[in-house]
Amino acid sequence: MQIVHTIAEIRKLVGPARAEGKLVGLVPTMGAFHAGHLALMSRARHECGFVVVSIFVNPAQFGPSEDYQKYPRDQKSDAEKAEVEGVDVIFAPSVEEMYPEGFGSYIEVVGLTETLEGAVRPGHFRGVAIVVAKLFNIVAPDNAYFGMKDYQQLKVIQKMVRDLDFDLEIIPVPTIRESDGLAMSSRNVYLDTKERAAATILYRALEFAKERVLEGERYPAALEAAIRRFIEQEPLAKIDYVAVVDPDTLEKLEKIGASVLVALAVKIGKTRLIDNNVIFGFKEGAFKTPIPL
Ligand code: PAJ
Repeated sequence: MQIVHTIAEIRKLVGPARAEGKLVGLVPTMGAFHAGHLALMSRARHECGFVVVSIFVNPAQFGPSEDYQKYPRDQKSDAEKAEVEGVDVIFAPSVEEMYPEGFGSYIEVVGLTETLEGAVRPGHFRGVAIVVAKLFNIVAPDNAYFGMKDYQQLKVIQKMVRDLDFDLEIIPVPTIRESDGLAMSSRNVYLDTKERAAATILYRALEFAKERVLEGERYPAALEAAIRRFIEQEPLAKIDYVAVVDPDTLEKLEKIGASVLVALAVKIGKTRLIDNNVIFGFKEGAFKTPIPL
């Protein structure tokens, strides 16, 4: 596995791989790898002949009071983990390489970015969109892998790809969790022992929401209120938002129909965690009845 830091170097490696007819897979990350990142790499390894993982803690997507400075960075351990997954090359550019003096172009994805994370983190998706677009232009992958853990990010990238005619496939990868349900996240390292235990409240709230929908709850406002009450039982949890919305538009639903997205942002102590689940509003087993021919 190689590690390169410049745009010229990564292009020099990807070009020949593509010329050999290999499918190029890209996994964009900010490093501090956990099993969620590794699942993306493993999927890319299975589907592509040449796998590029980018590691770049992107200043453009962090707000001024967010954790850009203290975001965990450990490139040595990341490189070891990526190598085990069979990654071909790590692209780890500097901030100056990605945003040289005089840089001034951004991408505004209108629609999808005004709610949830976009509403509480102004400028966040603008920063995500520009860095991902740059990575797409630099690596020109056939496939790019994104986790469903960041559901809104996945939707925003899919829309940007459609709107800007990027010639590539976005591959969504399901959320990888700890054995007690906590979604893997680079930010979990900020949690102390008590907070770590309290952090399972997000997953438990998603399971609770699923039960309510499968029991027949059809009113988003009632479901949202019930989820809030459920989370409020945990004294260390402070709700940022609870959203019960349309999984495609991320807009409010009148009534829960075929599917609903439950998205949560909750602070556990000082650490802000997000999680989500798409719940299908029909009773489990409803499709088990054979369809008459
Ligand atoms: P980062 O938080 O490092 O995540 C990199 C990728 O890993 C994202 O696609 C994210 O959704 C996925 N991921 C994170 N936790 C996961 C989990 N528990 N299960 C499955 N996938 C998971 O997301 C970013 O970086 C940045 O915004 C980026 C897209 C790299 C742009 O800077």
